[in-house]
Amino acid sequence: MGHLSTNIWIDCDPGLDDFFAIKLAINSVRVNIVGISTVGGNCSVYQATQNAISAISPFNNKIPIYMGSERSYSGENFRYALDIHGRYGLPVKQNTTNLKSFNIDAQRGMKLFFDKSSSPITIVALGPLTNIAKFIKANSESMKNVERIIVMGGAISVPGNITKYAEFNIWNDPKASKIVFSSEIPIYLVGLDVTNYIHASRQDLNKMGKLSCEIMEPWFKQNKPGAVFHFHDSLAVLTVIKPNYFTFETKRITVETSGKSIGQTKLSQTGSLVNVATVLSHGLTKKYLIKNMLSI
Ligand code: BDR
Ligand code: CA
Repeated sequence: MGHLSTNIWIDCDPGLDDFFAIKLAINSVRVNIVGISTVGGNCSVYQATQNAISAISPFNNKIPIYMGSERSYSGENFRYALDIHGRYGLPVKQNTTNLKSFNIDAQRGMKLFFDKSSSPITIVALGPLTNIAKFIKANSESMKNVERIIVMGGAISVPGNITKYAEFNIWNDPKASKIVFSSEIPIYLVGLDVTNYIHASRQDLNKMGKLSCEIMEPWFKQNKPGAVFHFHDSLAVLTVIKPNYFTFETKRITVETSGKSIGQTKLSQTGSLVNVATVLSHGLTKKYLIKNMLSI
């Protein structure tokens, strides 16, 4: 008998760490990627879709990829992070010749799959929560097959990374984040409180495989000496693959949607119930990711 594997739908904005998070999921027998939707964030949604297509290679015929939102829930432009991820959303352009995304949009792609699914789905959200919020608003009935949403986002007890208050994904679409957090679906939050502490340095290159080196070596070159690559998104995927590496504590969280602390995720008695992750060992987790994700 094979391993029990969890059906996951990945919503993402690849982005370097999203790219490797997809690779981690593909290489694990514990998860089965049933679909991918893309959203603008780290780069444009067009670039993110190209990068997602390259990340699933060579499974391009098996995993559907649907392009999603180009702008935030309220129609604003996303703030991209090309300075961090590289000019293509990745430091090196990937070859996607002859590969296409599915010719229907993410909202419709999710609806088709969620409605017909006979087993529960876990959504793993690795970018701004725009697609998910729009879907919840328009198709609450179709969410009955979604058993939980794991979100890489937020900063509860540490400062933000885009402003001192806010983490990038939540800040890029605070309204969408609020909608998702206050939905009926259980939310599992893997925020900077966890991901700040788990990263790879240039010294780790000698443990990485060919593709990882091809991408990470130029990335280290493009950055200042001493820069580290944060695994962020792969930690959200890892909560499914290695649940025993994490603990979750239920807290009441609100998302700030205006003012100078816009995008802040903070504890509040009137907030939504959210399961907030802590990781048991930074060292063990890093070791696992280098061995199982960056060895490709
Ligand atoms: C998050 O922001 C993005 O830049 C990363 O891909 C990750 O999802 C970390 O704050
Ligand atoms: Ca991301």
